[in-house]
Amino acid sequence: MRRALFRPRAIRRLLTALVVALPVVSACEPGDGDAASANQITGGDADRGRELIRSYGCGTCHSIPGVTGASGLVGPPLGGIASRAYIAGVLPNAPDNMLRWLHDPRAVDSLTAMPNVGLTPSDARHIAAYLYTLR
Ligand code: HEC
Repeated sequence: MRRALFRPRAIRRLLTALVVALPVVSACEPGDGDAASANQITGGDADRGRELIRSYGCGTCHSIPGVTGASGLVGPPLGGIASRAYIAGVLPNAPDNMLRWLHDPRAVDSLTAMPNVGLTPSDARHIAAYLYTLR
């Protein structure tokens, strides 16, 4: 008797676990990376960052996975940027340094070809969040 009573509850629990787990699993598509942890380490929103990357025109100089039309060859491809040890070969790759770079690349390396594109502080955070999904 008890068993029969408990079974539906167990099934309900299993279903609940699946409903909770499914969005997490489906967020792990290639190029999507771990948006939740990227958002956490940067204080930005990776989805918003992807849109901003388009509107600031980063893709005229960079190829960027997941960003339509971003196929530029002036700068390095940004696929895998989250796993790279250095940013532009000069700054250890960490969220604060990424924000520094995005704000004013020439303050970091006066000879770099990457211009200051005039990001607001919050836009830089969103963009950094998206970049950190690119593992
Ligand atoms: C006019 C071309 C140009 C534009 C526009 C541009 N970049 Fe760059 N970017 C470069 C170049 C060139 C480098 C390589 C810099 C170096 O190594 O000195 C670079 C380097 C980088 C790096 C470091 C890459 C690495 O492999 O370490 C990141 C991250 C980056 N850019 C992001 C962006 C983002 C995001 C935008 C838009 C907000 C943007 N860039 C706009 C030219 C550009």
